[in-house]
Amino acid sequence: MTKLPRIGVILGSLQTHGITRKIAHAMQDLVGDRLALEIIEIGDLPLYNPERDGEGIPAWATFRQTVAPVDGILFLTPEYNRSIPAALKNAIDVGSRPHGDSVWAQKPAGIISQSPGMIGGFGANHHLRQCLVFLDMPAMQQPETYLSRSAALFDDAGRLIEGPGKVILETFADAFAKWVVQYRFQRTTPV
Ligand SMILES: Cc1cc2nc3c(=O)[nH]c(=O)nc-3n(C[C@H](O)[C@H](O)[C@H](O)COP(=O)(O)O)c2cc1C
Repeated sequence: MTKLPRIGVILGSLQTHGITRKIAHAMQDLVGDRLALEIIEIGDLPLYNPERDGEGIPAWATFRQTVAPVDGILFLTPEYNRSIPAALKNAIDVGSRPHGDSVWAQKPAGIISQSPGMIGGFGANHHLRQCLVFLDMPAMQQPETYLSRSAALFDDAGRLIEGPGKVILETFADAFAKWVVQYRFQRTTPV
């Protein structure tokens, strides 16, 4: 049996019942048997401090060990003050160090931003893209996915409602499943 590409899902929201986590569960359904999406929690990571990196902080070590073997990353994030939430930036920083030992490099990435407002987290999406350039993570360019009015995507039971929002997520899921395989498994040079 062919092994499914493993995708770490990093959520920019720490809320247990937030919209971002609902989107993560919806994406797990939408990718079906094409990708294995695994949420990697970031809420317990202490704030990154290089001076403490020799102390063997368990949460940092576990996070790095969890991210290192996955085949790609799916970032799902709300926007905080027109940027990414601090928890997400902290996770990115933790994974990027020690210098020269980043767990992010060359992992193909997808980004979905969301907001209950009208702009769909555009600012967060593009601030995150700026980080990915430096981290050497190839990010899928299209379809750009800024989910606006995101609170209306789900019913009271947390299920994705049929409609344009679902179509956007399905389109992203199709493209991302192809993108990961194309980037990660059809390269002629080893990663
Ligand atoms: C500190 C903070 C800052 C926020 N700033 C923005 C913002 O800049 N743009 C926006 O569209 N929504 C903003 N919001 C609203 C979030 O997008 C909204 O709460 C969203 O549902 C959070 O995602 P979650 O439900 O997955 O936790 C902000 C929320 C918080 C708590």
